[in-house]
Amino acid sequence: MNAEISTQRLSATPRGARLARRLTALQLAAWGHPYDSEVNRTAQQLVAELAANAVTHGRLPGRDFELRLLLFPEETVRIEVSDPRGDRQLRFINEPEGERGRGLILVSLLALTWGVAERDVGKTVWVELALKEPGL
Ligand SMILES: Nc1ncnc2c1ncn2[C@@H]1O[C@H](COP(=O)(O)OP(=O)(O)OP(=O)(O)O)[C@@H](O)[C@H]1O
Ligand SMILES: [Mg+2]
Repeated sequence: MNAEISTQRLSATPRGARLARRLTALQLAAWGHPYDSEVNRTAQQLVAELAANAVTHGRLPGRDFELRLLLFPEETVRIEVSDPRGDRQLRFINEPEGERGRGLILVSLLALTWGVAERDVGKTVWVELALKEPGL
């Protein structure tokens, strides 16, 4: 199964995270899903959360993070955000009044499926998103 792929290395800073979001919007538009479409906005939200996590929790000094976007022929987009930290300590934080823990809950609600995979160096948090509503 062939996928179209876009890969970017970005600095592990808030600026790098914002850039990840903008590059995602551009790539989805290039793949035929305009900026203001639901799919494009959802992909931007997902990348924003995963990139924010990569540059805060997954950061190692002097190391970049990586954004990969894959478009599969059956109309699924896979988003992969890789960071250099090997610990895969992702968890849901359950603090109703808390300021933290919204990211992964949002990811789990917006994604078709998602998970965390080991890499040679660090880990990849991945999310898949359907581009079409089932049955359309
Ligand atoms: N890339 C990552 N590397 C290491 N730990 C992570 C990573 N992403 C998430 N985590 C862990 O999972 C927890 C939950 O992540 P989540 O995004 O839900 O919350 P948060 O980042 O703490 O707060 P918020 O996203 O609401 O600003 C984080 O606090 C962190 O401990
Ligand atoms: Mg977060």
